[in-house]
Order: sequence, then structure tokens, then C-alpha cells
Amino acid sequence: MAEKSFPAALNEQIANEFAASMQYVGAAVFYDAETLPRLASFFYRQAAEERDHAMMMVQYLLDVDEEVEVPDIASKQSRYDDAVAPVRMALEQEKRVGEEIYALFELARDVKDYRAEQFMQWFVKEQVEEVALMQDLLNVVERSKDNLPLVEDFLAREDPGAEDDPTAPPAAGGGGG
Ligand SMILES: [Fe+2]
Ligand SMILES: [Fe+2]
Repeated sequence: MAEKSFPAALNEQIANEFAASMQYVGAAVFYDAETLPRLASFFYRQAAEERDHAMMMVQYLLDVDEEVEVPDIASKQSRYDDAVAPVRMALEQEKRVGEEIYALFELARDVKDYRAEQFMQWFVKEQVEEVALMQDLLNVVERSKDNLPLVEDFLAREDPGAEDDPTAPPAAGGGGG
């Protein structure tokens, strides 16, 4: 018997997704202040995506008639020693969220909650993409850390992470996808 109900665990993950969103706002603000607008907008968009993830989970709980908890906001880091540090943070964060998502998937299986398991499948795929995206960006930023305009050029040219995903679950309030 699992210790925690799936809805309770998913409410915790909603808090984690909002926290990830706030952390990416912190990174975006740092780059914006450094006049690195492409890095800033990359992280503003990631922040919006994490908020979408939270709102998809909110919609799921509404759909299955479970309670939704709106979490408190904790302050997040917006100062970094150098331009590589936020991307390193982002890669660690995505790896950690991946572990959280796999744990939720496992819980859904343990309690034989098939709707929950099906719902979590999209997030498993999403984390593979997000970890790969941040690993790619970290490679680029580390290679060009002494010539950051090259990173800006890369982002302008490749626009990584921009694709819409029509298979994304619906988000409360109509965002996401
Ligand atoms: Fe997320
Ligand atoms: Fe993410």
C-alpha cells in the first residue's frame, strides 16, 4: 500500500512546477539585467512552460474531482556568479523534476490508478526533452562562455525548445500545448 494518495502527490508536484517556473524567472531576470536578451527570453519562455505544466496538473485534478491546493511562493535566486551558472542550475532542476515525475508515474502504478498513469506519460516524454534541451544549452554556453554573443546567435538561429506540442494535456485556464 502506498503511503500517499496520487492526488496529494500531484498537488506537491504542482508546487514543484510553480517553483521551477519562478526559478526560471530568476534566471531570465539575471540575463535580462546582463543585456543577454536571447538567453533572457529563453528562460522567460521556460518559466511560462513550467507554469503550463502546473496548470495541466490543476486541470487533471479538476477533471477527476480531486482537491487542488494552490501553493505558497518562496523567493528564488536571481543573482549568479557568471552566465553559465543559471544553465547549470536549469539542467540540475530538470533532472530532479524528472525523478519527481518518475516517482509519480510509479505511484500511479502502485495504486493501480490507470487514469493517473496515462496522464503522467506525457510528462515522462517531456522530461526527456527538457533534460536534453538544457544539456544542449549548457554545452553551447560552456563552449562560448568567453564570447556570449555566440550563445545569443545560437539561440536566435536555432530557437531551441520553441516547438508547440499538440499532444500536451489541456491546462486549466486554456494555456499550454
Ligand atoms: Fe515542468
Ligand atoms: Fe521543465
